[in-house]
Amino acid sequence: KQEGVALTPPMGWNSWNCFRVEVNEEKVMEIADAMVSSGMKDAGYEYIIIDDGWMTDQRDPNGHIIVDSEKFPSGMKALGDYIHNLGLKFGIYSAPGCYTCQELMGSYEHEQIDANDYAAWGVDYLKYDWCKYPSTKEVALETSVSDCRESFELMRDCLRKTGRSIVYSVHVQCVGWGTEGDSYPWVTDVAHLHRSSDDIKDNWDRMLYCLDENAELWEYARPGFWNDPDMLEVGNTTQERLWGGIDSTKMTTLEYRTHFSMWCMMAAPLIAGNDLRSMTPEIIEILTNHEVIAIDQDPLGKQGRRIRVDGELEVWCKELSGNRRAVALLNRSNEPADIVVSWKELGISGKYKVRDLWEHKNLGKFKGKFIGGNIKPHDAVVLLISK
Ligand code: GLA
Repeated sequence: KQEGVALTPPMGWNSWNCFRVEVNEEKVMEIADAMVSSGMKDAGYEYIIIDDGWMTDQRDPNGHIIVDSEKFPSGMKALGDYIHNLGLKFGIYSAPGCYTCQELMGSYEHEQIDANDYAAWGVDYLKYDWCKYPSTKEVALETSVSDCRESFELMRDCLRKTGRSIVYSVHVQCVGWGTEGDSYPWVTDVAHLHRSSDDIKDNWDRMLYCLDENAELWEYARPGFWNDPDMLEVGNTTQERLWGGIDSTKMTTLEYRTHFSMWCMMAAPLIAGNDLRSMTPEIIEILTNHEVIAIDQDPLGKQGRRIRVDGELEVWCKELSGNRRAVALLNRSNEPADIVVSWKELGISGKYKVRDLWEHKNLGKFKGKFIGGNIKPHDAVVLLISK
């Protein structure tokens, strides 16, 4: 993979969670405008990523993918220019198989042509998603783990040959998820980001499923490689309509905040999935909390991990630069709870300052431990601990 890229977890927006295949250039341009006007760009979000649905299921006689011109009448280069003119970066989606998950054109046997097209359009980020490899629509072909690995390495090499700096975000699912799926550790050298779970939904239990899968992989994260527990559902109001009401138990605003906190604790890519054109002030406040974002973006690049579990009460710790620590006290239960963290389990001793990053308040200096009192159900208190 290209070095010197994604040294902190990428931040941006992706079209999938709110638009599915109903994505088009007008919506994307409006979203890009909203990223600037809402303050998200200032908070560090930069990639505007178009997921599945931008292409047709055809190539032209020269082998180039045919863009869906009803959705993107001005073409991808023009859209890339629009995004770049706002000071943002442009991301796109493909799959190593003949078809994408939505049965549109994948990159199989056309990897270099596609990579060159991306570079010509000004693409800065590619999400490369395992689906049905390498089967055609009609025929499911046999595949092996080594085919799978080679297909991701091939696109890495093709991107490199373009000479353009492109973040490479992959979703390898050769035989399963995470470490069981055989994609570690090799994927850490192939890509900058690797998805660790099946698709997230706007649902508390589903969010926790993504969290738990991703948590296991903490030791692999480092500047230039991040585990990806999937895109954010914070403030996503459109999913119910597009998914016909399934999983209609959407997260509450507090649950969205917890979801965001835990993604930051895990040094996850922060890829918003909501409609940025219509955010409430509460949602903007969550997505742009610069103190919590700083935990995610800390240059040390360590993924936080769960250091204690008491039933549904958890203590998480993320080591930060400057001998500081971020701690999350996560209450997964349905009752308010007290959660205590001791300095011993954080590997420190003596007096430390404690700051609450959602209250934006210094809580004082504490010796030996801190007691998080009366933490609401499904809340996570996020603390910065420093000398
Ligand atoms: C898979 C991915 C999703 C999205 C869709 C698009 O399900 O996991 O994130 O990209 O494909 O079809």
